Amino acid sequence: MSTARFPEGFVWGVSTSAYQIEGATTEDGRGPSIWDVFPGGRNGDPACDHYRRHADDVRLMKDLGMAAYRFSVSWPRVMPTGRGRLNGPGLDFYDRLVDELLAAGIAPYATLYHWDLPQALEDEGGWTSRDTAHRFADYARAVHDRLGDRVGTWFTLNEPWVAAFLGHGSGVHAPGRSSAAEAFTAAHHMLLAHGLGLEALRSAGAGRAGILLNLSPVLTPGQLGDMESRPSEEDAAAVARIDALHNRQFLEPVLRGRYPADLLALIERTAGLGHVRDGDLDLIGRPIDLLGVNYYTPTVVQARPGAVADPAFPGSEDVLFCSVPTAVTAMGWPIVPSGLTLLLRRLSREYPETEMMITENGADFVDVVTADGIHDVERTSFIEEHLRALRVSLEEGAKVRGYLVWSLLDCVEWADGYRRKFGLVHVDLETQRRRLKDSALWYRDVIARNGLPD
Ligand code: NOJ
Repeated sequence: MSTARFPEGFVWGVSTSAYQIEGATTEDGRGPSIWDVFPGGRNGDPACDHYRRHADDVRLMKDLGMAAYRFSVSWPRVMPTGRGRLNGPGLDFYDRLVDELLAAGIAPYATLYHWDLPQALEDEGGWTSRDTAHRFADYARAVHDRLGDRVGTWFTLNEPWVAAFLGHGSGVHAPGRSSAAEAFTAAHHMLLAHGLGLEALRSAGAGRAGILLNLSPVLTPGQLGDMESRPSEEDAAAVARIDALHNRQFLEPVLRGRYPADLLALIERTAGLGHVRDGDLDLIGRPIDLLGVNYYTPTVVQARPGAVADPAFPGSEDVLFCSVPTAVTAMGWPIVPSGLTLLLRRLSREYPETEMMITENGADFVDVVTADGIHDVERTSFIEEHLRALRVSLEEGAKVRGYLVWSLLDCVEWADGYRRKFGLVHVDLETQRRRLKDSALWYRDVIARNGLPD
């Protein structure tokens, strides 16, 4: 195999999420979600008007040669109050979308929860309430009832760390709570929702099922430059703490049915353990078929007694998050493709049985839009470098079955609104006109040759 070629059957595609592209937040009986109510949100209309333009968007993907499309189902669109009554027109929308994808030869991958909790459930405690996990399982079953005959790949939750700790710890995401205890409780209930949802999907006979995690290798500044360098004991402790919060908090329960001991002690000190009941971890740890890995950037930390604590990382008072001397995206995220190789090496070592897919990777850059095209050289080289890093991992034996770019379209970046541009396709906010960026054309060629240019 040439160094640039990918394995036969490797899956190429893109990812999106409902709130970020659909618009039509009040149409056809959709109920409000926490992002429609959150003061820092309310960006969901018109988004990319995908609710109406889905057929055009599927055609675009077909022209680009995509083999898979990961989208999310909006809970409040199909169950406006989060429980009970189903909204027919909402389900019809996903039904049509799935049929269009299949007709275009694109495999639909459905994410059940990409952060748009029905506000009615938030009013009853949201993710801090255990009941929400049970409601999620009902919702998962209902969506599977309608789409399960045609959707072969299911993901329960997207990035529970973000939803729990930015939504309930730092409060920069909906629902905007800021309590470390609530963040840990919400995280556990999300994991429980994953376990109960997985059980519902399995008993309904679902195909492949898994979860999507935002994983980030945690390194000291020294290790970023030289992986062989040995951190001091204090720095190693800082790395372990952040790794526990960001990665192991989700990897260990899902893939091993346990919380890491160091983290459990921190959870107990912060939130008590009343919300973790007997049997929960068995359920959460039932086997998955596929781990979705969302990778953007590493996390670089060192010990610094008295550093200002980041509320998204409870218990990190003695940790300094470092800026690093590498190029960054417009979001300010360091561009470190080798971080992907490090991450996959670690996952392959610790969880060798787990099949994976890169379910998000991509970048926000300020694109120069001209009459003759959108020449987003930086995005193309970002993706190319990450694919080269992924190629190294595949060579090392990592079980990675596919790669999905975040994202198909320039869309709503949560509390940051429309100013972030992650798309392979530019969307004119006034006219909703779609234009392929150079990166889309380049990606089309990668897909066609199942690999990178030599
Ligand atoms: C993670 C999330 O899943 C997605 O919704 C978000 O837009 C991207 N990363 C970029 O921040």
